[in-house]
Amino acid sequence: MKKILIINGPNLNLLGTREPEIYGKTTLKDIETELKNKAEKLNVEIECFQSNHEGEIVDKICGAKGKFDAVIINPAAYTHTSVAIRDAFAAVDIPAIEVHISNVYSREEFRHNSLIAPVVIGQIAGLGIQGYLLALEYFSK
Ligand code: DQA
Repeated sequence: MKKILIINGPNLNLLGTREPEIYGKTTLKDIETELKNKAEKLNVEIECFQSNHEGEIVDKICGAKGKFDAVIINPAAYTHTSVAIRDAFAAVDIPAIEVHISNVYSREEFRHNSLIAPVVIGQIAGLGIQGYLLALEYFSK
């Protein structure tokens, strides 16, 4: 059975109450429950991890080698700043998809650049929580 790691970065623990006009009212717990239900249907195993700390996210990615077949990550604000997370993906060479709930390209200019995008298979942005579910479906094949 395929094993997929799902990582959510800083402030995504506040989903549901954080800027609901941008991110909606769905909580992280709701997203993880939906992902678990979908994973069962797709016959894949998932582990969900959230951290507000860059180093913890780097550790999780580095530790994924040999344990997971793929990673789905919403690096949140670290998307735009973290050379360390980018280098971790380049180092472990595990296929990954970057997900953003909002359409980062229709927002402030500093959100238009992703340091992570060049080292992952692809990016899904602006489809709300559907983005996570579509990424899961992609890796289940
Ligand atoms: C986000 C977009 C980022 O720019 C922002 O810093 C986030 C969430 C998204 O899911 O739309 O925290 O990754």
